[in-house]
Amino acid sequence: MTVPVKPAEVVLAAEGLARHYELSRGLFAKPAIVRALAEASFELKAGRTLAVVGESGCGKSTLARVVTMIEEPTAGRLLVDGRAVDGRSAADARHLRQSVQIVFQDPYGSLNPRQTIGAILEEPLYVNTRDDAATRRAKAQAMMRRVGLRPEHYDRYPHMFSGGQRQRIAIARALMLNPKILVLDEPVSALDVSIQAQVLNLLMDLQEEMGLAYLFISHDLSVVRHIADDVMVMYLGRPVEYGPRERIFADPQHPYTRALLSATPTTDAGGKKERIRLKGELPSPLRPPTGCAFHPRCPFAYEPCPVNRPDLAVPGSDLLVACHAVREGRI
Ligand SMILES: Nc1ncnc2c1ncn2[C@@H]1O[C@H](COP(=O)(O)OP(=O)(O)OP(=O)(O)O)[C@@H](O)[C@H]1O
Ligand code: SF4
Ligand SMILES: [Mg+2]
Repeated sequence: MTVPVKPAEVVLAAEGLARHYELSRGLFAKPAIVRALAEASFELKAGRTLAVVGESGCGKSTLARVVTMIEEPTAGRLLVDGRAVDGRSAADARHLRQSVQIVFQDPYGSLNPRQTIGAILEEPLYVNTRDDAATRRAKAQAMMRRVGLRPEHYDRYPHMFSGGQRQRIAIARALMLNPKILVLDEPVSALDVSIQAQVLNLLMDLQEEMGLAYLFISHDLSVVRHIADDVMVMYLGRPVEYGPRERIFADPQHPYTRALLSATPTTDAGGKKERIRLKGELPSPLRPPTGCAFHPRCPFAYEPCPVNRPDLAVPGSDLLVACHAVREGRI
């Protein structure tokens, strides 16, 4: 008898999230607007990983800051566990904040060098719970075991650890308040390749044990292929392709995704065998190109591309692509 699989619960939903920054241009000029993030909509499910990929400056870390409530969105809505994150009671906001934690890329800069590992791990408990000292210590030591640190590490300082161990400490700290969601902003990019696999395996084990949802930000497509369930490709602050990992790696649709994949040595862009080279640099988000922002670099650009911005639309059941040519079946 087959047991019906329960659909995974949506723990975080983003609806049209945007984040703009104002840049001062002097006393008499109007400030310039950097549209770092625009119209990002996606869902994160318990126990699943959504990878966010794209070139440097495309808005990945901005998205991470908005999702973790470090910054407020300029527009759009974030729902955690079905509850909108807005200016509600402080207690509610605190509960929602605790559900979403972040691990940064730099394991050297993200830990306070003057605190012992024990103090680093116990701090979130000290600030947010009524646990007594003995309980805090027991929880910190249990978490250290879980992430592969030894008991004697409790009294040591961050500088006494390697990059990989420090990233384990950062992951442990992020998990101390039992979050449902971890935002991982390039969590292995600063580590040696041999250590990357160990940390990725740890993340996958923790996800399975704790049912965690990951928003996994990376520019490394071979890592994404290994770890993601779904993938969202961003270009100049906007999602341009979003769907299941197998589909995107086997048969990428958006010309930008095809270019990214064909530039990755360990991946083979499936059905689309032609190699697409990206022309030119990523334009400035201060002056994004009109229409489809990818048009100055796109080998398939045609009349509507510089004029109309394509919506993120549905060419197949579970894949969304923002491209006129794909929508019209030209490519
Ligand atoms: N506080 C800020 N003020 C002004 N502009 C900002 C601010 N933060 C980010 N930006 C701009 O927003 C854009 C997106 O930046 P973001 O850091 O999100 O990109 P990223 O995809 O994380 O890049 P990387 O891969 O290099 O980490 C960039 O052009 C950046 O210069
Ligand atoms: S909309 Fe036009 S310019 Fe943009 S990716 Fe598609 S073909 Fe290229
Ligand atoms: Mg970044």
